[in-house]
Amino acid sequence: MGAFFLNNPISVAPNLLTKTSNFMCDWCCIDGSLMWKKNKNKNMVLYCQSSSGIVKTSNGLPAILTERSSSSPIPSMAADQSSGLIDAGSLVLSPNSKIQEDVAAKDLVPYSSTTNKSFMEFPEGIGIVRFLKGKQLLITGATGFLGKVLIEKILRTVPDVGKIYVMIKAKSKEAAVERLKSEIITTQLFKCLQQTHGQSYKTFMLSKLIPVLGNVCESNLGIEPDLADEIANEVDIIVNSAANTTFDERYDVALDINTQGPYRLMTFAKRCTKLQLFLQVSTAYVNGQRQGRILEKPFCIGESIARERVTSEILTGSLPVLDVKAEIKLALESREALQENLVAQKMKELGLERARIFGWQDTYVFTKAMGEMLIDNMRGEIPVAIIRPSVIESTYKEPFPGWMEGNRMMDPIVLYYGKGQLTGFLVDPEGVLDVVPADMVVNATLAAMAKHGATGKPGINIYQIASSVVNPLVFQDLAGLLFEHFSSSPYMDSRGRPIQVPKMKLFSSMCDFSSHIWTEAVQRSGRVLAPDVSSQGKLSKRLDTICRKSVEQAKYLANIYEPYTFYGGRFDNSNTQKLMEVMSEEERRSFAFDVGSIDWRDYISNVHIPGLRRHVMKGRGTCTAN
Ligand SMILES: NC(=O)c1ccc[n+]([C@@H]2O[C@H](COP(=O)([O-])OP(=O)(O)OC[C@H]3O[C@@H](n4cnc5c(N)ncnc54)[C@H](OP(=O)(O)O)[C@@H]3O)[C@@H](O)[C@H]2O)c1
Repeated sequence: MGAFFLNNPISVAPNLLTKTSNFMCDWCCIDGSLMWKKNKNKNMVLYCQSSSGIVKTSNGLPAILTERSSSSPIPSMAADQSSGLIDAGSLVLSPNSKIQEDVAAKDLVPYSSTTNKSFMEFPEGIGIVRFLKGKQLLITGATGFLGKVLIEKILRTVPDVGKIYVMIKAKSKEAAVERLKSEIITTQLFKCLQQTHGQSYKTFMLSKLIPVLGNVCESNLGIEPDLADEIANEVDIIVNSAANTTFDERYDVALDINTQGPYRLMTFAKRCTKLQLFLQVSTAYVNGQRQGRILEKPFCIGESIARERVTSEILTGSLPVLDVKAEIKLALESREALQENLVAQKMKELGLERARIFGWQDTYVFTKAMGEMLIDNMRGEIPVAIIRPSVIESTYKEPFPGWMEGNRMMDPIVLYYGKGQLTGFLVDPEGVLDVVPADMVVNATLAAMAKHGATGKPGINIYQIASSVVNPLVFQDLAGLLFEHFSSSPYMDSRGRPIQVPKMKLFSSMCDFSSHIWTEAVQRSGRVLAPDVSSQGKLSKRLDTICRKSVEQAKYLANIYEPYTFYGGRFDNSNTQKLMEVMSEEERRSFAFDVGSIDWRDYISNVHIPGLRRHVMKGRGTCTAN
């Protein structure tokens, strides 16, 4: 797991700081092959990329960047203080070269605004509950964050739904049953259902949830033949939520899950005799480096963002055509040709390189986009709905506010900031972080499912579940909310003393950010490792190495996250808004997903951060009064 060494134990004379800052600016540009991009708005360097589009990777950087990183528990406060490390493996943020000037002013709505639409009346609504009654579903990714919220909502609102086949990766059937119990049935998320069903809760859950030992990376999905036949005969809806969400995953691994996974499921879908809908959970960021207001448009096979963004025919001719099959072949052949000890790093680099050549920011979103292309190419008569949420964060209201799992997107930054370990980040202060609460994503998913499942019309329907057009959360406002929250409810250090946080610094240039990281690393280290500074005020070799490593890692991560912190697109959600308009009054209450109605101050301060502290930090660093 990648780590920022922000807490390094060494001390240094103040006069060294200026010098090191200058050094860091030089260091930013040290490699002649690096290409700096200018942000016109700010006259500052924004990010660097090699001329081939490959992100420069420092030796031994094990950065793992993911939409969710539950496998990387946040260290306890005590551990934080002593280790001197900050786990930046899942810091959020990466982006585009082109910035805000492409976003038409008319597309942007001020931070505080909310949509206040008067909906047309549809007394019958979509009929979500009616549609789901008795339906049999196959769900992949059910042990994941979103999958669980989906299952909980279905079972709570439609208890007479049919069987839900839950695909689970495991070594044996018994192990799959065990995962179903320990990772779904007994989790706190299901506490409302536990209260409703009391003693019969477990029986109810086991009568509905059928564990299916399987894997989207295996042929026939790894499902044993008899069970596969049963599912093929029974299932009405397939939901594919399985994914690898690591931004810089190995290319072969990401292709297998995010691109070939949908292909294998679609192949299975063709065997399903009564299938009414194939629902793919994708991401709004499949839109890659598109700019401005981005419409809910499907991908056709062979499309690429790079070609789309080039207007001249001559230039288009020089761009490679995206051939999904050829990409899979390339990944496999590259893997075969590599020495064992180089495979992991080289395959990560290959994914980022291919993504950027074709106009996507990273391997995750590129492979998800190719998954969408294969679905569209194969669907034939099967009705398809593609749900594209932006950054999914904790539940807004249901089953209770603030539930979440794992250390997701913006959360590592929030937590390290709260703990006083990170006081700045590389981000466009006027940029927008597109966040949506998990329960709203699930509600919109169920509405789309019912709408298209009920009509059973062949076709592909895209829903972007996103806030950046209707209710944008601006980075500098977010930073202000974080400051407010941690000032009034501070974290406690290992000795029970409140940690005072400064206002978060938002850097528009990599050079300034690197310099800040260096200064912070040296200052923090100084508190513990005073002997590492000589009487002449020089840094010891050890301190120098540690601080350089901090900066290298910070730069690598900032590069990966930059497409998100400087994202030049806003996700249009007209289809999602229209879906809301055809819901009945009752459905709008029970399956609400009006992202325009979110009060970000309330959500961030009173729902999301408390949820993060409770469910992810498990209350560590929070005094009882909080
Ligand atoms: N989280 C976000 O902010 C976000 C935003 C936009 C879109 N999305 C999309 O939403 C969906 C769900 O995301 P999430 O946050 O819930 O992700 P998650 O918590 O990482 O869950 C991923 C799920 O996929 C399963 N999975 C991975 N590889 C598999 C395989 N080979 N075969 C079968 N199952 C496999 C995982 O199973 P194991 O438990 O066995 O690993 C897990 O259940 C994904 O499609 C993602 O692209 C997420």
